[in-house]
Formats: sequence, structure tokens, C-alpha cells
Amino acid sequence: MRVPTHVRMVEVGPRDGLQNEKQTVPTAVKVGLVDRLSEAGLPVVEAGSFVSPKWVPQMADSGAVMAAIRRRPGTRYAVLTPNLKGLEGALEARADEVAVFGAASESFSQKNINCSIAESLERFAPVMERARAAGVPVRGYVSCVLGCPYEGEIAPAAVAEVAARLMAMGCYEVSLGDTIGTGTPAKAQAMIAAVAERVPVATLAVHFHDTYGQALANILAALEMGVAVVDSSVAGLGGCPYAKGASGNVASEDVLYMLNGLGVETGVDLDRLVAAGAFIGEALGRPTASKVARARGCA
Ligand code: HMG
Ligand code: MG
Repeated sequence: MRVPTHVRMVEVGPRDGLQNEKQTVPTAVKVGLVDRLSEAGLPVVEAGSFVSPKWVPQMADSGAVMAAIRRRPGTRYAVLTPNLKGLEGALEARADEVAVFGAASESFSQKNINCSIAESLERFAPVMERARAAGVPVRGYVSCVLGCPYEGEIAPAAVAEVAARLMAMGCYEVSLGDTIGTGTPAKAQAMIAAVAERVPVATLAVHFHDTYGQALANILAALEMGVAVVDSSVAGLGGCPYAKGASGNVASEDVLYMLNGLGVETGVDLDRLVAAGAFIGEALGRPTASKVARARGCA
């Protein structure tokens, strides 16, 4: 089996995971989580999101989180920025990188960011420009790459089109999001093949939610196609507020265990990662969704 020798793990738990929490998660807990994740050696931690607090109240303290974390050299701290207002917040918070987020589905775009796909790309243009001027790299997300909660099937060509537009605007990487976790490996490979015709595989990341238990298989399928950047969420935290029923991202612990087994280098320490998951599980009063963490004795 041919897979990349090194994979960059992008930890999205503090953002994609916690954005979906109904209970208020104290800022200090978020800071404790981010610090434990960076100490585990994760190269990128998505620490929050500068979005409307009316839309996603849980992320309202992202500025305070960013101000209180202990920045580890070797970890980049990323945040989501849907518009210029978000970007200004992110720059003030000294984010190392930001992300704009679009979708391959019109309905999801409307529900998630209140505009069409075309309008979203227009909105991202000044964000890209301002970020470039500030020297901050921008990641692009495409949601609903393997299905939409409102529209069902999504054509791979639609995913490729949005991904290509994001790259043309200046994103350094595009993360392909299976927002509702319905994808299967063959479908994932077909979608990646379609995107790879427009965007170099070296600039692609994959972002699988594990709703149907397919995420690890899908990640392996993506690795076989040369994808070397994988998003995941510690303890499998999360879901999506605009995709009913979507479960959390694939658990980071489970992804790391698989990568270790494949001999793929990540620079991430499994014991420390499991400890970070135990910390947030205890704070939320919730059993972990990571099978690896459970097998290693976490409640
Ligand atoms: P809108 O209502 O169309 O925007 O929302 P607006 O410009 O008309 O502003 C409305 C109000 O929001 C105003 O306040 C603005 O100031 C405020 P008011 O005058 O009413 O008091 N506002 C903001 N406040 C703080 N920060 C900002 C900001 N922007 C406007 N940046 C908007 C448009 C995009 C802002 C809104 O729809 C929004 O915030 N959506 C958030 C959606 C979100 O965070 N979704 C979850 C993340 S995406 C995801 O999870 C998928 C992913 O994981 C990949 C995958 O799994 O597929 C990435
Ligand atoms: Mg997501």
C-alpha cells in the first residue's frame, strides 16, 4: 500500500468540536484543551472561530481563548473567518492562519453562512486580500463534498469547481469536508480524483465526520490518493450546527493510531493526545467517542 511518509494532522476539536456544544464551555477549559493539544505536538490547532456570536454563541470567546493560550513554537493556531469583520478579529488575536469556508451545495451555503456559493466567494475576496497584506495564510474549506443534508447527492464536479475557485483566490490549501459523514471510500476517491484534475493533490486536506462510521476508511482511501493533510477532532468531539444529525469529526486519537500503524510520521504523541481527550471529556461530562482512548482506559 502506498501512502505518504508524513501526514500533517490538523486538530479541529476546539472549533469544529466545541462549536456544537449546547452547554457553555468556560474559556479556561478551552484554553486548557488547546494547550494540551499543542503539547501533544499537533502542528495545527484550530482554536476558534470569528463568526457571528448570534449564529454560533459557543465561539464568542475565541478572542479571549487566543489571548490566553501558551503558544508553542511548532504549532500554528488557526481560526475561521467568514468575512472581513472576522478577519479583523483574527488579526487582532494574532492567529497564525485563518480559514474561509464555502460549500459545494447551495442550500448548505445559505443555511451556514446566509448567502449563495457565488456570493460567498465574493465575500472571501477582500478577506483574502487583507490576509495577504497581513502575511497570514488562508485555508479554504469546501463543505458537503460527499453529500448535503438538504440536497442529498453532490456532484464531484461541483466540489472541484469551488475548490479550484478557492485556490485561484489564493488559499494555500483546500480542506474537503464530508460534513454529514455519509461518504464511503470509493466515493471519496472519485471525488478526490475529480478535484485533483483542477487542484494539485499536495494542496488538499480531508475532513471527515464519522456519522456513518466510515471516516477512517475514507482517510485511508484519501492517503492512497496522495492526500497528506488530515483534519480530526480529539475525542471525536462535535458535529455541525447546520447539519442535523452530523456526528463529530473522526477522533484524532484513532487517526493517529492508524497513521502510527502505517509507519506514517506525524510528530504527534499518542499518550498526550489521549490525555487531552480525557481532559475535555471530563470537563464536558461526556464519554469519549475515540475507540483508541476507550481501549486505553478512558471513560
Ligand atoms: P449575516 O447575518 O448574513 O451577516 O451572517 P451580516 O453581515 O448581515 O451581520 C449580521 C450581524 O452579525 C451583525 O450584527 C454583524 O455585526 C454580525 P448586528 O448588527 O445584527 O448586531 N457579524 C459578526 N459578528 C462577529 N464576527 C463576525 C461577524 N460577521 C457579522 N465575523 C455570517 C453572515 C457569515 C456572519 C453568519 O452566517 C455566521 O457567522 N455564520 C457562522 C457559520 C458557522 O460558523 N458555521 C460553522 C462553521 S462551518 C463548519 O463547521 C464546516 C467545516 O467544519 C467543514 C465541514 O465539516 O464541512 C468548516
Ligand atoms: Mg466540520
